[in-house]
Order: sequence, then C-alpha cells, then structure tokens
Amino acid sequence: MINVLTTLQETEISDADFKRVAQAVYKHCGIHLTDAKRQLVSARLAKRVRAMGYKTYREYLDSVLANPNGEEFTILIDSLSTNLTSFFRENDHFIFLKTKLIPLIVQERGGSNRYIRAWSAGCSTGEEPYTIAITLMESLPQPASWDIKLMASDISTKVLAQASAGTYTADKVQVVSPQLKAKYFEPRKMPDGTPAYTVNPTIRNLITFKYANLMEPFPFQGPMDFIFCRNVMIYFDKPTQEKLVNRYYQMLRPGGYLFTGHSESLTGVKHPFKYVQATIYQR
Ligand SMILES: C[S@@+](CC[C@H](N)C(=O)[O-])C[C@H]1O[C@@H](n2cnc3c(N)ncnc32)[C@H](O)[C@@H]1O
Repeated sequence: MINVLTTLQETEISDADFKRVAQAVYKHCGIHLTDAKRQLVSARLAKRVRAMGYKTYREYLDSVLANPNGEEFTILIDSLSTNLTSFFRENDHFIFLKTKLIPLIVQERGGSNRYIRAWSAGCSTGEEPYTIAITLMESLPQPASWDIKLMASDISTKVLAQASAGTYTADKVQVVSPQLKAKYFEPRKMPDGTPAYTVNPTIRNLITFKYANLMEPFPFQGPMDFIFCRNVMIYFDKPTQEKLVNRYYQMLRPGGYLFTGHSESLTGVKHPFKYVQATIYQR
C-alpha cells in the first residue's frame, strides 16, 4: 500500500479557515462550532488533510468545500460530529418508558389496536434505538402481538452502517444485564477475535435505520408516540433547536412525548410542549 501521508505544515487551522469550516458545517447540518472548538477541529481534520496528501488545511478545504455534495464532504462532517452513545444511556428515560408511557399506551390500545410508532433521531451507532426496542419487548404484555415500528436516523452513513449491523464488542454490551444479554443478543467474535455480540433479529426487525439530516424535511411519516432526540441538539444554536423542537411537536400525536439529552434543557427555546420532568416533554 502506498503511504500518502504527508507532513502537515501547520499546527492549527487559521482563523479564516476555521470560519469557512464552521460556516459550511452550520449550513449543512446545524452544528454550531464555536471558537472554543478550534483546537478540536484542527486535531480532527489533521489526519484527513494528511491522508489526502495536502500540506495545509487551506488546500484541503479549497477542494472539499468546492463540492458540498461530494464524498469527502461527508467524511469531513463525520470527522467533526460526536457519535458517543451507549446502551441504556440516561436510564431514567427507559424507566419512564417502562413505568409510565408504555402502561398508558397499553391502557389506550391494548385491545385490538396494538401499535407503537417511535423515532430515535440522531441514533448514532444504534445503542439508543436497540435499548428502546428491548424496553418495549420487556414492558409490553404479549409483545409479539404488537405492531411496533421504530424509526432510527442519523446524518452519518458510517454510524448508520454500524447501527444496522447491530454488532458490538463485549465491552459496549457490558452495561446490559446478563439476563437481557442472553435474551436479545447472540455471542460472536469480531474478525480479529475480539468477543462481541449481535442484536437478535427479533429486535433488529423492529427498527428501520435511515439517513436523515434533521435540517431537512423529515423522511418519516408521523404521528409518533414518542421521539428521542438526545445529545444531538446540544451541538445546535438556540434558533436551530427552536425550529427543530417545533417540528417534532407537529410530528408527535397529541399526548406524545419528546425526550432530550440530560444536558439539553429547552430553556430559552419557544415551544408549545408541556413540561413533564427534566428532559421529558409532552405534546
Ligand atoms: C452524541 S450522538 C447521540 C446519540 C444518541 N442519541 C445518544 O444520546 O446516545 C449525536 C448524533 O447526532 C448526529 N447528528 C448531528 N447533527 C445531525 C443532523 N443535522 N441530522 C441528523 N443527525 C445529526 C451525529 O451524527 C451523531 O451520531
């Protein structure tokens, strides 16, 4: 293999180049890169600049930004977005699902009208929608008799590919109890021999993974019973959050719920939701 790594002649991206990246990223996906992120952006782009054989950030950006529909632009967005997630992250949301929301749905639709529609918006590598699916299976009476459709979307095709494969190294699945692991995961080995687990088809089949840029029209039909949009809006500015939250409101059925990340309060955002408890809102 030819090593195309070159020497990058700058230690940090210039002010002007940082502004260009920040503007392009904001326009494309709403992610607001403040000046405080300059070092981080420099570090994350450096690898790519070198791998592509450029000597300066400017040369790289001249090429990438000239083609915002190109593959390299997607790679740039991927390298700047944060995909951190985990199974049962912010577990009180799943406790709320199990103890409050699902019992309500069962009360309303437990007869001949057994269906649930939900959306994990910004699902990253899939741990969030899989945790939702497991929670539904564990909380619904006769879960197989329910028509469950979970949508899961992200702007990064890289994380979506991992999400739909549903295979995780054992350390990522460690937080799942042995009982749930035995029920919903198959043990396997990664190609390098690392122990791993794949989510069972019963769970995988409940979820449709799809590319969606939340700045664009939603690719799913409502109404949804609930939407998880957690640890995504933290990267957006208030006007962008406001637009998005109001669009989620339209997408939910009356009485439907929006879950946001624990550090994402809707303070300062105008919206018609009813506050239920921290980071849980109801239409
Ligand atoms: C930190 S992860 C959150 C994952 C999961 N929701 C959780 O809380 O664990 C944020 C995800 O939002 C996605 N994202 C950022 N901007 C987006 C946009 N404009 N449209 C869709 N997804 C976006 C990123 O690609 C990333 O996978």
